[in-house]
Amino acid sequence: GEMVIAIDGPSGSGKSSTSRMVATQLGLAHLDTGSMYRALACAVSHAGIDPQDEPDKVIDLAGSADIEVDTRPGHDTLIIDEVDVTEEIRDPRTSARVSAVATIPQVRVLLVERMRDIVEQNDRRIVVEGRDITTVVCPDAQVRVLLVADPAVRMARRARELGEGVDHNQIHDQIVRRDRDDATVSQFETPAPGVTLIDSTSLGLDEVVARVMALAEQ
Ligand code: CDP
Repeated sequence: GEMVIAIDGPSGSGKSSTSRMVATQLGLAHLDTGSMYRALACAVSHAGIDPQDEPDKVIDLAGSADIEVDTRPGHDTLIIDEVDVTEEIRDPRTSARVSAVATIPQVRVLLVERMRDIVEQNDRRIVVEGRDITTVVCPDAQVRVLLVADPAVRMARRARELGEGVDHNQIHDQIVRRDRDDATVSQFETPAPGVTLIDSTSLGLDEVVARVMALAEQ
């Protein structure tokens, strides 16, 4: 039957790893909505559009771009208007640009519509992760989780993900600045009614996965 699992959380909260593992274990599809905003930010940059000066052009692109997302867990290929941006969406330059695109309200309306289409295409058997999934995209999900962690832990995780030789001050700036830039779309301190808060500061990934699985089995 239907099983939509909505997971929201900030950068480095562990939502991507958790979502992928839960989807794999339950045989569900996996949609990382952040990757859609990131892909749009890449296309905007390729087109030479400045989101601050030309928001209308960003909105046009959000409506017209062909966005191909692979929803099989562990398959993260992302193609926008025939350009493979799988690598580019993870580039720190994309991270620095994405909030300017994601905070345009009409862009969100258009992408949320696409996200809901993807949920339907997967027969509503899917884990969806992002910033506003529990509240806006899938408020009627069977399982709704807000995953949080202390900023220091989130930074350490992000640093580990990015590998050797990364500049910790830069990561700090990125996480703190993006939290601030995203504040209009994400509410991380208080979960909406009916949303389960999981603080992963002192929990391992397996423990977080186990808690989400327990909610799915209720
Ligand atoms: O990887 P990380 O958790 O840092 O970010 P992400 O989930 O890939 O999301 C990247 C950016 O997309 C966020 O900083 C938001 O600006 C935007 N986003 C959003 O506005 N709404 C979502 N549902 C998901 C992402």
